[in-house]
Amino acid sequence: MEVLVRPMRPEDLDALVEFWADMSNDPVVSGRIYPPTEENKRKWRSWVLKVHEEDERQVLVAETNGQVIGYILFRVRTDLPLWSPHRMATIYDLYVRPDFRRRGVATKLLAEALEAMRPRGVTLVTITALVANEPALRLYRKVGFRDLRLTLVKEL
Ligand SMILES: CC(C)(COP(=O)(O)OP(=O)(O)OC[C@H]1O[C@@H](n2cnc3c(N)ncnc32)[C@H](O)[C@@H]1OP(=O)(O)O)[C@@H](O)C(=O)NCCC(=O)NCCS
Repeated sequence: MEVLVRPMRPEDLDALVEFWADMSNDPVVSGRIYPPTEENKRKWRSWVLKVHEEDERQVLVAETNGQVIGYILFRVRTDLPLWSPHRMATIYDLYVRPDFRRRGVATKLLAEALEAMRPRGVTLVTITALVANEPALRLYRKVGFRDLRLTLVKEL
């Protein structure tokens, strides 16, 4: 399977919104903290456009046979409250369509995102996954991410 990774184009956005909705509906992936209501979809769409406008390589899609089958979205962090010796980037989303999984697509998206970060001076990359999301955790550890922080939650 030939997979091309390229910057998102505006016409890809509908597909990306559906991918995001699929993730936010999945308790193992998102914990359903931001349900995919129409309002959230609209807000997410404009946030993606903003991140893309900042730098088009911050939103990359995977394409095969002319169809978009996955995406990765990261942001170089310019909003840090304190000085740090690091220039940081955060990967917010990574998704591959279920029928294209386990064929190296996410690995390729991750590699391209990291390559885009290097010339932008990034020295530290963060990514968050739910403890229950075994596929994502395995993938991240496999490509060299190490466990750093555990987020705890309590419902009131
Ligand atoms: C996690 C996800 C992005 C992986 O995409 P993918 O294209 O299938 O990943 P790859 O084919 O590149 O997998 C690379 C490695 O990750 C690990 N991995 C991926 N899926 C796995 C699974 N279901 N179970 C166990 N390990 C898995 C394996 O080590 C795999 O290597 P291998 O196939 O040689 O064993 C995909 O399952 C997905 O989109 N899930 C829903 C969204 C999500 O969880 N995103 C991450 C949010 S933090």
